[in-house]
Amino acid sequence: MNYRHGYHAGNFADLLKHTALCELLRLLTAKDKKLFVLDTHAGAGGYDLAADKARRTGEAEAGIGRLMAESRAGGVPAAVARYLAAVQAYDRKFGAPSGTLRRYPGSPRLIRAALRPGDRFIACERHPDEALALKREFAGDRAVEVRQADGYHALKALLPPVERRALVLIDPPFEATNEFETLLRAVRQGLRRFATGCYAVWYPIKDEEVTAAFVDALKDLKLLVMELRLGAGVEPGKLAACGLAVINPPWRFEEAMREALPWIAGRLGPDVTATCHAPLASAQAPASGA
Ligand SMILES: C[S@@+](CC[C@H](N)C(=O)[O-])C[C@H]1O[C@@H](n2cnc3c(N)ncnc32)[C@H](O)[C@@H]1O
Repeated sequence: MNYRHGYHAGNFADLLKHTALCELLRLLTAKDKKLFVLDTHAGAGGYDLAADKARRTGEAEAGIGRLMAESRAGGVPAAVARYLAAVQAYDRKFGAPSGTLRRYPGSPRLIRAALRPGDRFIACERHPDEALALKREFAGDRAVEVRQADGYHALKALLPPVERRALVLIDPPFEATNEFETLLRAVRQGLRRFATGCYAVWYPIKDEEVTAAFVDALKDLKLLVMELRLGAGVEPGKLAACGLAVINPPWRFEEAMREALPWIAGRLGPDVTATCHAPLASAQAPASGA
């Protein structure tokens, strides 16, 4: 368990994941019905971009820093504008001068900001130091239940929710070589227990065949797959592409992301590309040779 999100917070992967997360939360809280949110791999909750970890990688500067600077020219898609507003609203709590970004909100903070009275939120984090930081982040906040626990187990234990409506974010660090298998097993278990929940599953793209097989295993579900690729010029050994698979996306989510993702990609650099598609289910796929 060496992964620390502090090195990566606000990077290109977070731009994809967190723009989508904010949009999912907005759409799922639009209905006057209670929502349960489970963040299985929550991290520390909030990150200091001036800290050594963030400065050492420079990933936040190339990600959220660049996006914020570019957004000043205008033409920002609505979903991206809402995500940037959520980032700035969190940062402002720490008194940063306007126009600068000092603290970046992790997924638990973005979720917390979208909750309505009566919604329920459980954030799981297994690493003791990160879990402690997360507990501190939400100390005294009764709307957030932080558990130092295995998020995959929580998925089994907490579904189906009494609310009968849920958003589950699954954002593992992919340190284990069999993480895709564990992840797939967990998603299937979750769906068996609660088939109508909305599940947002993040994954790194290091081996295109492996990720294509992962997406293929989900394709009979109601699914939207979004991927962001940095293209040439990424330092060897660094993550250059990632994806987010959303199972049971709410109405209008695809439309919003189809507008947001190419814009984000265009701001990050000339080689950066984004895709957003709903894979054909087996029953819909054309027969080979047809
Ligand atoms: C990518 S980070 C999470 C980032 C966070 N979701 C966000 O968007 O701000 C993954 C986190 O999962 C934690 N983790 C690893 N294995 C876990 C498990 N089985 N259950 C819960 N947390 C785990 C790691 O310690 C790490 O903090």
